[in-house]
Amino acid sequence: MQKPTIFVTRRWPKETVEEMKKFFEVTINHDDRPLTQNEIADGFESHDALAPTVSDNIDQNIIKKGSGKIIANYGVGFSHIDLVACKENNVTVTNTPDVLTDATADLTILLMLMISRKAIEGAKEIETKSWMGWKPTHLVGSDLSGKTLGIIGMGRIGEAVAKRALFGFKMKIMFFNRSKKENLNFKAEQVKKITEIFEKSDFISLHCPGGNNNKNIINEKSLQLMKKSTFLINTARGELIEENSLCKALNNDQIAGAGLDVYNNEPDINPKLLKAKNVVLLPHLGSATSKARNAMGFKVIENLKSYFNSGKGIDIVNSTK
Ligand code: DGY
Repeated sequence: MQKPTIFVTRRWPKETVEEMKKFFEVTINHDDRPLTQNEIADGFESHDALAPTVSDNIDQNIIKKGSGKIIANYGVGFSHIDLVACKENNVTVTNTPDVLTDATADLTILLMLMISRKAIEGAKEIETKSWMGWKPTHLVGSDLSGKTLGIIGMGRIGEAVAKRALFGFKMKIMFFNRSKKENLNFKAEQVKKITEIFEKSDFISLHCPGGNNNKNIINEKSLQLMKKSTFLINTARGELIEENSLCKALNNDQIAGAGLDVYNNEPDINPKLLKAKNVVLLPHLGSATSKARNAMGFKVIENLKSYFNSGKGIDIVNSTK
């Protein structure tokens, strides 16, 4: 029997490609450059399935070319895929939940520490040989212990961050989540209004999905509600933050700092962010561990195998009916 054909938009870790080739005919973007919209559309049209990543914009023109097929996303977030067009064209979408939770939660804590302990300034002093030696007032930062962490979006990653902060750093956890969370097995206070998070948190960490519902939840108004000592962390999606307003707030010392891993217009960074005060900027590294990146590939493969065997993916994010 002929193997189903899969169009993979980026280069994947070696082990996952080898595994995929056991079950599928695979076309891989070996150059690993971002493909054009037309190249992705042609790839989808000429293959049985598309395996994109967050760096691809899967719009309706691409989706129309794959009517009735599957998009097996390499990643958990899917706001780069037009789900309305998928429904109209009967395209199934799957993602890779769970397997990148720990890696992303670790990176969130890393950003909290980097920004609150002035790690970048310190590293720059060493790099530029400008360190003048130890002194009591040198690069003094803020503790995590005893502080309140406000989490927006208590899904898998939100929970993993909360547990690290609570058990590892003795922080107090507050969170906002659209639906009520009943069975958390650790101490955390769910607030009814998101404004409570803005007003009361010392650290705010975003863990809700991207897309229109949550676009710009961090904006001029929400930033005005925050304390001057608050640090904002985003390892979720760039569109959650109105970046120009954030830059203003940072430069006016309206908040204490921001640690960001994701941006509005990746890989282009808003020039104002590059010049803003008190920021740590990382290049979308949340899931960048070999364990997570391999597991993401294996999950895509499981979704595709299930789809081609039974007509259904495992981690389905849309209903095509
Ligand atoms: C995701 O999975 O959505 C990340 O942003 C990329 O790993």
